[in-house]
Formats: sequence, structure tokens, C-alpha cells
Amino acid sequence: PVTVYPDKQTASVKVAERIARLIRRKQEAGEQAVLGLATGATPVGVYEELVRLHQEEGLSFQNVVTFNLDEYYPMQPDAPQSYVTFMNENLFDHIDIKRENIHIPDGTLALEEVVAYCLNYERQIEEVGGLDLQILGIGRTGHVGFNEPGSAPNSGTRLVTLDDLTRRDASRDFGGKENVPTKAITMGIGTIFKAREIVLMAWSGKKAPIIKKAVEGEVSGEVPATYLQLADNVEFVLDADAASELT
Ligand code: F6R
Repeated sequence: PVTVYPDKQTASVKVAERIARLIRRKQEAGEQAVLGLATGATPVGVYEELVRLHQEEGLSFQNVVTFNLDEYYPMQPDAPQSYVTFMNENLFDHIDIKRENIHIPDGTLALEEVVAYCLNYERQIEEVGGLDLQILGIGRTGHVGFNEPGSAPNSGTRLVTLDDLTRRDASRDFGGKENVPTKAITMGIGTIFKAREIVLMAWSGKKAPIIKKAVEGEVSGEVPATYLQLADNVEFVLDADAASELT
């Protein structure tokens, strides 16, 4: 289903509330909540609201395990552009999550270590019982995670090459496209599909054309987000501008 909110603030609070409900339900059951997390501009408001819920309303993350979708490769974790830095600044440094429960793909691996590392990432997700909820943004190429056009529907965590448009969109963070890594480690489409619930968020008119393709276009590897049309546990959460081209 597609849910449209007037603006991204309202939508972000709704998504944060959904995550908080999941965490509390799991707490009451004495279980862990396993979250798949995204970086980028889109989820910032969700993380802000989760931090507020922690600081002002006592939401605890002690029972939360997280797996981030992706990381640039190569990337040092303490670099300003790393997704480790992003997650620390936007969420982890402000909540009571256990550091050992945080998983973010490692951008420092030697090339020959990557395949075993990615298989182990999948195994770690399975060992905690799978992802309860995966949140996603969408790139203008139609990527989810860094599953660029051409990604297979059953793909797992792996090393991928970033699309030129994706590197252009990231160039501001890196001070020029030539500084953006050409590769990334990302969960696969298949990894994302195994999550019990999936929420894809998109804000602003800049995302309207790709949202139209993702929601209404033909299912195709050319626009990996269209694969989500085949899942029955997906919600597209949009602001009015991102939804403006939907019929
Ligand atoms: C980030 C990720 C990407 C972004 C997408 C949108 O972890 O996996 O798919 O969600 O590139 O980025 P923003 O939100 O910056 O528009």
C-alpha cells in the first residue's frame, strides 16, 4: 500500500511511532527487535523522532539489534562520509542501544575477504531470527540499498558498483564526484525481501518520477525498487510532493 502524508515531518513521526510500537511489543514479549536501517537524507527525521522518544518518553533500545543496508567501499568507519559516522551522529550516540548489537557493512575489508564477510552478514541476520522491519529510501536510479539497475531479485549481501547518477548525487558529501567511492557493500534485494515488514520512504518532488516508476511501472531489474511491488508486506510512505506523479 501507499500512504501519503502532507509533509515529511508528519510522515517521519508516523514511521518512528511504528518502529517504537515494534520495539515495545518485543520488549513485552522478552524478545529482541531486529531493525534494518538506512542512511541518507530520507530517514533523518525518523531518527530524530526516535531520539526524542528515547530522551523524553523513555523508549529503550536495550533489546534492539540493527543491521544497516550498506556502506561505501572502501571506507574508513571514522571518515565523515561513512555510514558508521552517519548512524552514530543521527541515532546511535543518542540512544541506549548496545554497541555489540549494531551491524554496519565493513568498508575496510581486503577485497579477498569481502565474499566471506557478506555471507556472514546474511548469517548474522538469520541468527537473530531475521529482520522484523526494514526501512528504505530510494535513489533516483531506483536503487534500494545500493542495489542499482541490473540487480537480481534474489541477490544477497555483496560488493556492487555504484551507478554514475548515484555518485553524482553523493558528490556534495564528498566534495566532488571523483571522490565518491565507485563501490559499496549492500544487502541484496533478496535480503530486503526476507524482512517481515518493509517501509520505503520518499520525500520531495525530486523523487516523484522514480516513485511513479517504482509504484506504477513494470516490474523490472532496470528499476530495482519495482521488485517491491511483488512483496505483500511493503508500505510506501510518501510526502505529497513525492506522490505528486502517481495516478
Ligand atoms: C542508504 C541507501 C540508499 C538511500 C538512497 C536515497 O543507506 O541505502 O538507497 O536510501 O540513495 O538517499 P537520500 O535519502 O539521501 O535521498
